[in-house]
Amino acid sequence: MMPIRRRGWEIKDNEATPETVFLNRRAFMSATGAAAAVGGLGTIGLGSALMTTRPARADDGVLPSLLPAKRNEAYVLDRSLTPQKDNENYNNFYEFGTSKYVARAAQELKSRPWTVKIDGLVAKPLELDFDDLVRKVALEERLYRHRCVEAWSMTIPWTGFPLAALVALANPTSGAKYVQFETGVQDGPGMGGFYPWPYTEGLTMAEANNELAFLAVGTYGKVMAKQNGAPIRLAVPWKYGFKSIKSISRISFVKDRPQTFWEQLQSSEYGFWANVNPAVSHPRWSQAQERVLGTGKEAPTLIYNGYGQYVADLYKDMKGEQLFM
Ligand code: MTE
Repeated sequence: MMPIRRRGWEIKDNEATPETVFLNRRAFMSATGAAAAVGGLGTIGLGSALMTTRPARADDGVLPSLLPAKRNEAYVLDRSLTPQKDNENYNNFYEFGTSKYVARAAQELKSRPWTVKIDGLVAKPLELDFDDLVRKVALEERLYRHRCVEAWSMTIPWTGFPLAALVALANPTSGAKYVQFETGVQDGPGMGGFYPWPYTEGLTMAEANNELAFLAVGTYGKVMAKQNGAPIRLAVPWKYGFKSIKSISRISFVKDRPQTFWEQLQSSEYGFWANVNPAVSHPRWSQAQERVLGTGKEAPTLIYNGYGQYVADLYKDMKGEQLFM
């Protein structure tokens, strides 16, 4: 039997926090492997990689003038926020490489001009300029949990707007049953090989209109770092993190369930629904616990990542669906 290829996100980390990894240069080098050799990451400036604030970028557009946005107090957390430096230095963004340390490589992402194309089953296809879009919607801050399928978690202050507001703007026809998302990163240094690029994701219309589904444009009260998916990404906190696609440039309303990036790659492990459930193991590891990044501690994972009151009803009549992988 062919061995299963391991993705970078399955590389075992000995430590939860990037600081520890960064400070242990040997571990860092072995974790980043080839990317370090090619990208010169071995000579990384620790200071810049761990920076928590950065000067405004030329391609921040109008966003800094709209931030910080008011916090929506409806979404409360039972744990403290993940330090920003952890959130920005431990990422999955395969277009820029399979290691967690893609922050530097991701600075190549050109986030302006940025257009979000809306097409498929809509009254009228649209091309939305990102800066026009953020001026049109009401931005707010939400504190959400974020649970990766690899069994680590963070808690993040996102700034953005409900996906439902964009669905309303798109005006889909009654034939639209699903929403497909496509990333705008089409030529990242990590792209190639056997992956079914570009990165795509999907939701049902009901999921997209659920109040929790959020399009994020900022984190920690500022413009989002490129490695987190600037200028616009999804945050669907009741699902495993791979559903929260980064750097979205196309949103299509479709009749049939889209085949997503990870599903195409390995459908036995990464499905369309991917709702968080501690009782349903990944075929190769348990989902019962999670490493809470930045704390060095583990915590029990919660069904729907703690958001059952918002989303459990979406799935109550679904028989024969693999809702938790
Ligand atoms: N979106 C794109 N375009 N490319 C990716 O590789 N990785 C996903 C998701 N969105 C990914 C992506 C995975 S596996 C996770 S866990 C989250 O982004 C990670 O988001 P973060 O790096 O901001 O924590």
